[in-house]
Amino acid sequence: MSEFAPKKVAVLISGRGSNMASLIAAAKEEGYPAQIVLVASNNPDAKGLETAAAEGIATCAVDHKAYGKDREAFEKALNEEIVKSGAELVVLAGFMRLLTPWFVKQWEGRMINIHPALLPSFKGLDTHQRAIDAGVRLHGATVHFVTPEMDVGPIIMQGAVPVLDDDTEATLAARVLTVEHEIYPEALALVAAERTCIEGMRVRILGSDDMEEDLIAPVV
Ligand code: GRF
Repeated sequence: MSEFAPKKVAVLISGRGSNMASLIAAAKEEGYPAQIVLVASNNPDAKGLETAAAEGIATCAVDHKAYGKDREAFEKALNEEIVKSGAELVVLAGFMRLLTPWFVKQWEGRMINIHPALLPSFKGLDTHQRAIDAGVRLHGATVHFVTPEMDVGPIIMQGAVPVLDDDTEATLAARVLTVEHEIYPEALALVAAERTCIEGMRVRILGSDDMEEDLIAPVV
């Protein structure tokens, strides 16, 4: 897939880590352009830390509670771990802490996030219930570069799913999660292979023309 050495990636999580697991699985594939060198969490009890350790990946917990209200002190400690791991890219996968402009600046253009909605709709939390309440027919997930404003950065890839009449928050969340697990490894591969070029709010994908079609996953 890539003529580059795999890019070293730190994945930040806060909970179950199913997206992280999908990235770990993808990174095992021959030729995948990224290698997960660290899984870090602000929550020492995050289930995903166990999953990553069982896969033989280095893990660390930097408990934000130990830093009280001092977000930057927490982020500096976390950043130290990331830098120590040799990571070149940071991937947020259900990382539930707001990041300060300082941290975002350290990883500008090199940090991506997955959000469970079709941005710019439904930024923030409770996206699935809000999508149902708003009566939208399509919902989904977005992978984007991280900028200081939450859920706003340039969009790399989106996946859409239908919202069905009898959907509950749980059924819709499960349908979206399936798409998340497809698009996050694909989007990370593009970034790691240096095939993304940020132009203002748009991300241009460099390389084969037929790739363009894959940037919006089909409705499933
Ligand atoms: C996902 O829905 C992701 O989009 C959001 O947080 C959730 C994390 O789930 N940012 P998991 O920990 O990857 O299972």
